[in-house]
Amino acid sequence: MNILAIETSCDETAAAVVRGGRWVLSNVVASQIALHESYGGIVPELASRQHVTAIVPVLREALATAGVGRDDIDAIAVTEGPGLAGSLLVGINVAKTLAFAWKKPLIPVNHLEGHIYANWLIPADADPGSYPPPSFPAVCLIVSGGHTDLLLVHRHGVYEILGRTLDDAAGEAFDKGARILGLGYPGGPAIQRAAEGRRPLEQLPRAWLGDRYDFSFSGVKTALLRAAEPYRKQAPPPGRGAKQARGNDEPFVRHEPPAYSPNMPVGELAAAYQDAIVDVLVEKTANATQQERAQSVMLSGGVSANALLRRRMEARLRPLGVPLFIPELQYCTDNAAMIAGAAYQVLRRGALAGWELDVRAQLPWAAIPGIKIIERARG
Ligand code: KG4
Ligand code: ZN
Repeated sequence: MNILAIETSCDETAAAVVRGGRWVLSNVVASQIALHESYGGIVPELASRQHVTAIVPVLREALATAGVGRDDIDAIAVTEGPGLAGSLLVGINVAKTLAFAWKKPLIPVNHLEGHIYANWLIPADADPGSYPPPSFPAVCLIVSGGHTDLLLVHRHGVYEILGRTLDDAAGEAFDKGARILGLGYPGGPAIQRAAEGRRPLEQLPRAWLGDRYDFSFSGVKTALLRAAEPYRKQAPPPGRGAKQARGNDEPFVRHEPPAYSPNMPVGELAAAYQDAIVDVLVEKTANATQQERAQSVMLSGGVSANALLRRRMEARLRPLGVPLFIPELQYCTDNAAMIAGAAYQVLRRGALAGWELDVRAQLPWAAIPGIKIIERARG
């Protein structure tokens, strides 16, 4: 069973071919980071236009690298949401067209379920005996740009939501923190780089929220803003700081980083911020692992690429004796291999898409057909 998957929910144009939901034959990602960098964040309209130009070369490369053609592909999978509507639209249209022309089933995938199944991916030539998959029940921490969810995965397609963020997602917190510190976009990698080898300037607040599994990152963001404030220079007068881009093709305002005095301890502030975010993520995941008697733990989403999070989580879980799964770096941030991995499960539960498949920008967990969502009662 070879699945060709397409992912265009945000700012990566991606296509992949995956066999049996696990063996990655190809995984091609065209990043748009360079395009959005100067705006300090993603410009949705530019993202969708870039998907339009990149998607065909990316698809070609995914098929060529995998060494497969139309006859070797059994189904076409695509992210239907959540994400940016204009970006999702490109992938969905291409997937529909391919499924129609090649007469293949069309599999709709929830982006978040894709992140979970990044933990099942293995190299094309891997012996499955050497790569046992996560065993259930599994605690799964999804930390991406839009989500911070702590789940208990009882079995394929049965998710119990233990907790979620009450305000910013972890990735969003990294991105906003980076902006406060005048670092680039995307913020997570920028903060990680700045913090490398630095000691935290001070202990920033952690929102433990009692023994709940929910998260909150707005407090630590405000604390960072306060800590950076004394180093901030007077803002440039309006109109001079932000450069207005010219021409109809680019009616967007370019990002001008805040001006700081050169003696701001950027690395030490970044380290303090990263420390506070990672601390809460690790402790809550470890607590859930013990309380729920999980058989394995999985990390997923862009923030699981964070080196400190990977290191601390491993150190914290090792004494508990519960195996920890963290996707390879290329499968942490957005990619299509993970969409193919999840698509394999969607296919198994028979939830195929019809030609009416449409973008679902706000697609919540509970809207995935064929799965069971359990909401944990919270005090
Ligand atoms: O999963 P993802 O690629 O896209 C979404 O589905 O949102 O996650 C993107 C997020 C961004 O907020 C980015 O700053 C964060 O993941 N990220 C990181 C790192 N790499 C990416 N955060 C912390 N450390 C990293 N190394
Ligand atoms: Zn994602």
